[in-house]
Amino acid sequence: MSFKTNFQNVKGTKDILPEESIRWRKAEDIIRKKMMQYNFREIRFPTFESTELFRKSTGESTDIVKKEMFTFEDMGGRSLTLKPEGTPSVVRMFLQHGLFNKGVLQKFYYIERMFRQEKPQKGRYREFRQFGAEVIGSASAEIDAELVKSALDVFEDLNIEGIKLNINSIGCPVCRKDFIRKLKSFLKEKLPDLCEDCNRRYSENPMRILDCKKDKEKIKNAPFPLDFLCDDCKEHFEKFKSYLDYLGIKFNIDSGLVRGLDYYTKTVFEFVHPGLGSQNEVGGGGRYDELIGFMGGGDTPASGYAVGIDRLMLLLPEEEEKYDLDFYLVAFDSESGLLGWKILNELRDKGYSCDKDTMNRSIKAQFREADRQNAKWVIIIGEDERDKGVIQLKNMDKGEQKEVPMDIEKIIGEL
Ligand code: HAM
Repeated sequence: MSFKTNFQNVKGTKDILPEESIRWRKAEDIIRKKMMQYNFREIRFPTFESTELFRKSTGESTDIVKKEMFTFEDMGGRSLTLKPEGTPSVVRMFLQHGLFNKGVLQKFYYIERMFRQEKPQKGRYREFRQFGAEVIGSASAEIDAELVKSALDVFEDLNIEGIKLNINSIGCPVCRKDFIRKLKSFLKEKLPDLCEDCNRRYSENPMRILDCKKDKEKIKNAPFPLDFLCDDCKEHFEKFKSYLDYLGIKFNIDSGLVRGLDYYTKTVFEFVHPGLGSQNEVGGGGRYDELIGFMGGGDTPASGYAVGIDRLMLLLPEEEEKYDLDFYLVAFDSESGLLGWKILNELRDKGYSCDKDTMNRSIKAQFREADRQNAKWVIIIGEDERDKGVIQLKNMDKGEQKEVPMDIEKIIGEL
């Protein structure tokens, strides 16, 4: 049979078909389990928020806000945006629901879809999934190390090898002032030579120029935030490194790592995997000690990260996944079909997965379907069985068949 349609999924989105869904579900189960082992509490947030939220928290100068958001107006003329990242929503929820009253330290995790209008390519989609963890209330570098460890544990449980950790510190508003002054004077005469984005960033957020892939070579001698850290930031970074050492976590200090979002302070980190090609960043995060205050929440330090699940899935070993079924009913006539339906429902109540024919198919076709569905057991009922009050129970692996009384406990007892 062949069907045709003129419709295709929109560029940059993905259909996840049944067999592939098994891999996704297994991965998500591993993520949830690990997040709970770290005592992160699950939160879920809306698909869209007011555009202003992202402008203010993700940051006006970021690529996300400048050119990647899916923004639209509702019927009341309000500007809304499909969430491009999770941190702004987490902060909004924390403030809106007064979660600060529930304890000085709050640990959250989420598995959510995100939307960014980027040029689609392998590992880069317009709709993608992230899991993220955010810890609000602690300024300790211990939390940063704990967050890093939780992500690495997920990668380990998924059997993904080869992910590397890069870390850096981009300081706080105090030490950054001096750094930005030096950076700007270094960049000033190079500007005509730098790309359009870098020229824009020069006035909006010059630190982001260090992140430019195009101009990397031209700015390799630029000053780096690490060389300008104040005593407090320096001590924080030293502690972060010592905790990573203590946990046996290998890392690389990448002094050019500044991350693409405006809210970071002090610690920043990213997880990369060379097997992913140009989109090699599996995840990233850092501290955002100023954001909650900036959003109206008083002086509240915080730290977090997010990992792209679509990118993780590209790294998972390919395994053929199959659905299976506990019972399939083969019925010789409609009366047997109705009787069998009742038995299937009782088996479902006991936790077994069951299915049956609903298209009056031949016995041969029903057996073929049982095979296609990977059924472990087939229940066969015909007129004889009905008269005797029994069923035929066939073990599909062994090919053995036996007669069993038409009684749910007896059937289960035979498995
Ligand atoms: P981010 O670095 O923008 O950080 O995104 C985190 C991860 O999401 C990336 O490392 C990547 O794996 C994945 N990702 C981003 N864009 C795409 C895309 N177009 N297609 C597929 N995957 C993508 C954040 O989102 C911050 N909210 C992380 C954070 C939480 N920082 C503090 N707390």
